[in-house]
Amino acid sequence: MKRSKRFEVLDQRSVNLDGYINEWPEMGFVAMKSPYDPKPSIEIRNGVVVELDGKRREDFDFIDQFVADYAIDIQRASKSMAVDSLEIARMIVDIHVSRKEILELVSGITPAKMAEVVNHLNVVELMMGMQKMRARRAPGNQAHITNLKDDPVQIAADAAEGALRGFNEEETTMGVARYAPLSAMALLIGSQVGRPGVLTQCSAEEATELELGIRGLTTYAETLSVYGTEKVFIDGDDTPYSKAFLNSAYASRGLKVRFTSGAGSEVLMGSSEKKSMLYLECRCLYATKGAGSQGTQNGSVSCIGVPGAVPGGIREVMSENLVAALLGLECASSNDQSFSNSDMRRTARTMLQFLPGTDLIFSGYAAEANYDNMFAGSNFDAEDFDDYNVLQRDMQVDGGLRPVTEEEVIRVRNKAAKAVQAVFAQLGLSPISDEQVEAVTYAHGSKDTLPRDVIADLMAAEDVLRRGITGIDVVKALAESGYRDVAESVLSMLKQRVIGDYMQTAAVLDRNFRIQSGLNTPNDYMGPGTGYRVEGERWEEIKKIPHLINPKDI
Ligand code: 5AD
Ligand code: CA
Repeated sequence: MKRSKRFEVLDQRSVNLDGYINEWPEMGFVAMKSPYDPKPSIEIRNGVVVELDGKRREDFDFIDQFVADYAIDIQRASKSMAVDSLEIARMIVDIHVSRKEILELVSGITPAKMAEVVNHLNVVELMMGMQKMRARRAPGNQAHITNLKDDPVQIAADAAEGALRGFNEEETTMGVARYAPLSAMALLIGSQVGRPGVLTQCSAEEATELELGIRGLTTYAETLSVYGTEKVFIDGDDTPYSKAFLNSAYASRGLKVRFTSGAGSEVLMGSSEKKSMLYLECRCLYATKGAGSQGTQNGSVSCIGVPGAVPGGIREVMSENLVAALLGLECASSNDQSFSNSDMRRTARTMLQFLPGTDLIFSGYAAEANYDNMFAGSNFDAEDFDDYNVLQRDMQVDGGLRPVTEEEVIRVRNKAAKAVQAVFAQLGLSPISDEQVEAVTYAHGSKDTLPRDVIADLMAAEDVLRRGITGIDVVKALAESGYRDVAESVLSMLKQRVIGDYMQTAAVLDRNFRIQSGLNTPNDYMGPGTGYRVEGERWEEIKKIPHLINPKDI
């Protein structure tokens, strides 16, 4: 066939490098509604749910049982289930119906009913719903802080810069798992240099991650994964009960915890039971709520290629974010793993959470060079900071970040690198040279930094665990090496774990360690003139992008 030049050009476009597949419900490739999804139902006898979404109690799998026993308010169930799904959908977008009323109403509906409700909403209505249902009044943002070399000096500098740029939470992970104690320590120190009060996490194998948390080297955990089918759960050696137990282990030591789930995991692991991604994710979120977790990281997360490939898949991702908010959970709404070669597509996907605002719009904006992201490249990276700041300014939207100056960034990167250098020396860990500090201060990514002595680092990492080094040791080392202000901040983070207020839903800390959460600063949006608005100091800050023409200079 003679080719059309128009089509040859289109075929070359980045959007056509992405993978697409038509609906195939038998294998789980269906976003919002599968012909095999159950019809909503509930029957309660003597205070026990004996039927849930068309299944009798004797046929329950462990997810059904967990959800039936812990995640549905049986006092409200019959009343809530009697309200038509379309009516509930309309109330969600009705500015005259408060968030509180919606939370109470939906606390009595089942997962299948929840899926039915959000199926009535188009993407704009889903965003309207999120604008009202988000737990915290002001939106926030979370960063990934990682690098290809697992270089703790770079982690500290990138964490300081990220904190300065406005992230409320920062998480790291490793290429070489054994680096974890050094990564956690560098992230803790660096974050507090950038902006006191930033929460940090080190995503590692479960036992290590819990140990680092208990020792005060991290302040939150979020990769407690749950899945929508029993088979997939068992493949991960878990049950909703074991996840609830792990959640309690963290919470009992004063760490903020959220679960992780999202569309596509069951498809990828080959056991979707022919159900839609949305229905399976509803089951995950009910399990999350039943386990007593304050929140979730959801929106497909690392499985975004799967919903990204099917019709309505990105609408489904926003739907599951809204379901989290409807269940009263903090929602860290993904936008982390990159899913498209097309800049237009990746930006469009992010607008669904960016415009209404979620508790954490990204559950992992890559605050490092794209190639340094050890979680796999993010939807937005360090290279996109200025684009993001301009988007905030164009639309007068608070995406959680702010423009910064080169001088400030250089200053905090240098201070963070030096603080880590001092702590490592004080604790007798692996040496950090002045040249390494200098390189990291001015680096974009690990291609611009000097090599580390990996053997020495790994021995030091083991040493941290063997010697039982804790957050308090870090505080002492900082204080003894002249970083009193950073020591104070790290100590304040440790105090939070005793106070426990930051375990309230959607809690983040400001630079004075004051809590902002769904409890003390709840979202009070009820239409124009209400709720969070970008104004005053925050608007002035957003306006000040680099590369401005100042009318006074002309
Ligand atoms: N479902 C469950 N867990 C997920 N994670 C990422 N995406 C999902 C998902 N769709 C968790 C995994 C992974 C970490 C980065 O987040 O635990 O290791
Ligand atoms: Ca995350």
